[in-house]
Amino acid sequence: MVVLVRSALLLLLVGCSSAPEPKDWLYQQLGAETGVTQLVDGLLVEIEQDPQIVQHFKDTDIARFRKLLIEQLCELSGGPCRYSGATMQESHTGFQITQADFDNLVDHLIKVMTAQKVPVGAQNRLLAKLAPMYKDVVYR
Ligand code: HEM
Repeated sequence: MVVLVRSALLLLLVGCSSAPEPKDWLYQQLGAETGVTQLVDGLLVEIEQDPQIVQHFKDTDIARFRKLLIEQLCELSGGPCRYSGATMQESHTGFQITQADFDNLVDHLIKVMTAQKVPVGAQNRLLAKLAPMYKDVVYR
């Protein structure tokens, strides 16, 4: 009888516990290498079409920026990449980026993720990882 009750409890526990989330869950939700690349390319189009934001990039090597942003989003979402660029503070100092710029870029990112059918839960997870960078990006 004791064995039976124990077995039943064990089954209940096993049934309730969900498998741990894989390290690259978010990366996969973003569409892995292809998805992250498309995300960055979509964002570049948005940046190009936003006169307020594009002005900050007038002297930027866009190919290098693209490569680094792909690396960064890949690493940040648990993918198999290592970000090789400067810190967010180093790379944004001197650009006088405002809170409005930051909010607009986030809006562009949400638009691109939605167009690429990234599930809302995954969108929010990525945004939560980017939000703390605010203090290093925005000029004060
Ligand atoms: C969380 C938000 C952001 C992330 C994750 C991010 C990420 C990056 C990365 C990875 C780089 C390349 C770093 C390097 O050159 O080593 C970069 C550069 C740059 N970012 Fe951001 N960025 C963010 C927000 C913004 C915003 C809001 C603006 C302005 C609207 C902006 C403008 C720039 C510019 C102009 C550069 C190029 C700097 C240069 O030419 O040297 N960034 N960013």
